[in-house]
Amino acid sequence: MTRRGVFLSFEGIDGSGKSTQARALAESLRSRGHHVTLTREPGGSEGAEQIRRLVLEGDPDRWSAMTELLLFTAARRDHLEKTILPALEAGGIVISDRFADSTRMYQGLRGGLSEQTDLLHRTMIGTEPDMTFLIDIDPALGLARARTRGGEQRFEDMGLPLQQAMRDGFLQLAQAGRFRVIDGGRDADAVAADVLAAALAHLDSA
Ligand code: ADP
Ligand code: TYD
Repeated sequence: MTRRGVFLSFEGIDGSGKSTQARALAESLRSRGHHVTLTREPGGSEGAEQIRRLVLEGDPDRWSAMTELLLFTAARRDHLEKTILPALEAGGIVISDRFADSTRMYQGLRGGLSEQTDLLHRTMIGTEPDMTFLIDIDPALGLARARTRGGEQRFEDMGLPLQQAMRDGFLQLAQAGRFRVIDGGRDADAVAADVLAAALAHLDSA
């Protein structure tokens, strides 16, 4: 199967503005005539959305860390098969709000399952985005934004020291060439302008 399209992802700590930026980029690229599939993880396909509910709703102690890693990976596999790869094969642009880097950070770094995370990724997923935007913000700001939202709280109740460790972990991952680190601590339009410029530069060179 050939991958003709372009796969972009957004990563960052909770409340960094990933979803806002993913939506803004999708709109900007559509207005320029591109075919864009805007999707998210966990979720992004019917089966993966069902798994999302299993993982994010209900008793937080329902699953062991290892089972949770398997569920996130199963959701990603379905998302890849049903949504991402077909859109890329059709030559479109896929924008995913989170992808495998989130598992590397949340289950790998925070959950202490780095080895298992890497093994599962290699054997079950085996795909990376062409470009990943790391929306980088001070965790105090991210936490404040996340709290104003309500909704799923279990992953957002980590507290500042853990969010700081996650931010550092994301910045470490972002040494890889596919990343663009964007300062997310500014107003949303300024962040979006930087994201769009980097995306257009990538599309021009693709
Ligand atoms: P994430 O997907 O990273 O958790 P969201 O995009 O959902 O973040 O944003 C979290 C909250 O912060 C939302 O209420 C959103 O409206 C707000 N927000 C997003 N980007 C900015 C920004 N640049 N400045 C101020 N508030 C923002
Ligand atoms: P999301 O809805 O993107 O939350 P937010 O908007 O706060 O960033 O994701 C829900 C939670 O799932 C988030 O706290 C991160 C977590 N998560 C993992 O632990 N592992 C994963 O592989 C993914 C994709 C998400």
